[in-house]
Amino acid sequence: MIDPRVRVAFVHAGGLSPEQTAAVEWAESAGFDVTHVSVAAIVEGTQSLSTFDVIWWHADEKPSLAAEKDLGGVLRAYVRNGGSLVLSLAAMTTVDDLGIDPVGPDAVGPEPESQSTGPLVKAIYDDHPLFSPLADRRPLTRGPTDATLARYDSILPQRGEILASTVRADHDVPGLVTCVAWSLRNGNVLGVGDGLVFEADEGTTEQRDRFARAIFTNIGVASVPKRPESGDEVAAMRDHFDDDHHRPKFHLSTPANWLNDPNGLIQWEGQYHVFYQYNPGGPYHDTIHWGHAVSDDLLHWDDEPVALTPSPDGPDRDGCWSGCAIDDDGTATILYTGGRDRRQLPCLATTDDPDLRTWQKDPENPIIEDLPSHPDVLSTEHWEGEFRDHCVWQEAGTWYQLIGAGMEDGSGVALLYESEDLREWEYSGPILSGDQGTAQNTVWECPELLDLGPKQLLHVSNYEDVIYFLGEFDEDRFDPEYRNKLDHGDYYAPQSMETDDGRQLTWGWLPEARDVSAQWDAGWSGTLSLPRELSLASDGRLCQRPARELTERRGSNEHHDGTELDAGATIEPTTTGRALELSAQLSLFDADAIELRVLDDPDGSETTPIRYTSDNEVIVDRSQSSTDPRATSDSLQMTVTPYDEPLDLRVFVDGSLVEIFANERHCLTSRVYPTSTDATRVRVTAVGGEARVSELDIWERK
Ligand code: FRU
Repeated sequence: MIDPRVRVAFVHAGGLSPEQTAAVEWAESAGFDVTHVSVAAIVEGTQSLSTFDVIWWHADEKPSLAAEKDLGGVLRAYVRNGGSLVLSLAAMTTVDDLGIDPVGPDAVGPEPESQSTGPLVKAIYDDHPLFSPLADRRPLTRGPTDATLARYDSILPQRGEILASTVRADHDVPGLVTCVAWSLRNGNVLGVGDGLVFEADEGTTEQRDRFARAIFTNIGVASVPKRPESGDEVAAMRDHFDDDHHRPKFHLSTPANWLNDPNGLIQWEGQYHVFYQYNPGGPYHDTIHWGHAVSDDLLHWDDEPVALTPSPDGPDRDGCWSGCAIDDDGTATILYTGGRDRRQLPCLATTDDPDLRTWQKDPENPIIEDLPSHPDVLSTEHWEGEFRDHCVWQEAGTWYQLIGAGMEDGSGVALLYESEDLREWEYSGPILSGDQGTAQNTVWECPELLDLGPKQLLHVSNYEDVIYFLGEFDEDRFDPEYRNKLDHGDYYAPQSMETDDGRQLTWGWLPEARDVSAQWDAGWSGTLSLPRELSLASDGRLCQRPARELTERRGSNEHHDGTELDAGATIEPTTTGRALELSAQLSLFDADAIELRVLDDPDGSETTPIRYTSDNEVIVDRSQSSTDPRATSDSLQMTVTPYDEPLDLRVFVDGSLVEIFANERHCLTSRVYPTSTDATRVRVTAVGGEARVSELDIWERK
């Protein structure tokens, strides 16, 4: 039923195009009360707007606003007083000229080889009245068109909340944002830059009708989602996922949308600050901002407002990429990579806010303007130079900075710079480069140098793995003596924080192991590892332990003492759950393997075995972890040289992640997505011979 009281003012800037005529005809036939209103009449004030519920500007060509200076003021006043404004197709390009958002759409024009398309609705909004009448989250609401469309592609609006991207007939295009909402005091603006075409459409009219009706019946009465600004508003996004059993409970995950690398890790005035690469546009990597969370105890995290946003006119217009935080004689300072067009260059920001919420970007950004003279930095179709990410420290009054890069010969490199003031940097050269056994055609991303006392640790992320080198750093060269992976699973781009009590705590990004559409449907992508304490063991090798504070959130415990298992025998703990910590000491005797199965479904359909084998390997077998074909079924493995039997395993199970520490040396983190909510059991079985589980503890995590 259409509410007959919905009065629509249809805006036109002159004569109506055939598309505009078709739009008016549609609105009238759908039962809306439509009046034609010219831009000139609005600007001159000869047409009062207060009698309309909705002003609809639908344009299949980009409107020119050069002579219409007052239009924005009039329309904004109308909206602030409770009116609703719908800007569809090319009319969405006017948001900056109308003063609704400083950043307008950057992908404007007809779609080449146009195909059936519609809004790819964000999972957190698909029950909003604007979208709930649609058949699903991927409705095709228009056929091929030559109309001019307006989308946000490599940038995002600064104030608007993103409601939907783009779906095409056979695939999702998460990065092409079409549907944006702005709330201005008492009223709403809705931009629908694509998806609504009325002229000569074929085959898609039912979904288009539902979409257009939903807009005009609801825009004036339902509040549109607002871009979260305060920490509480960011945190409120988490409520959408209360029933999502893949969400981690005790790992720091993205509030919604997308998270990648941890950034700017710093303990400041006692509090632990974690920033992270964040895309507020949705669960896909693009238009990167810095999200922010803070904790007093490493156990409970509070969401903070987004800390860094790309500046429309700055060198970070396309993204504020990874970087680090330092204490510059009492001033919190961050160095990060700004991306714009084909350039990635170092930028700096400072704050005197004790909560590190608001940052001032340096007017001199980028602080390094040119790529180094040697080696030749890899340039690609997209980038002038693959040159990014920062690790900064101070020694005897001098600042040192590492930047990651790729070289023309296809290998990675960590480049060293020096400075007296963090702003003028002098290039020293590479501290380590070459293949060093790592993948070719790579970039060394997110290099970090840590001083672990007698030895130094350098780690780099080479697109696939995080490789660490233990060795000696001597002024300007790193001499590697030992190499391994920091984690053998779904773990990338870690960064560390030196705590006030002198520990090195490291967090890594745990990317999803399911496809892009599954991430879109989840509404969130990305979580961080537990904080890990890195230190050197007495034999000079690397130790990685979960931060000691984490034991404080252990809940009820189930303990099994010294159990000998014959081949095929199984320990069947009664504790079940998806938020568990397990500790086990395992000896194989003559068994081929011991399997510790987690997220195990009683009906046998889904299970994740962690297999310790007589080849000294720990394998996470994901072949049966999930019946969802969109989740990976690859296995992950690592070699665990047996320092001393029994093997000491500490395993954290948290929603869709399993984080394993073996002998406090080797880590393997894995993302798994059981579909069954009953996949919560733990089982321990000896395979092919006799084995011993000398201790087994299971804690529910609080
Ligand atoms: C690593 C990385 C960094 C870059 C950032 C962009 O995951 O690619 O090199 O700064 O992510 O989000």
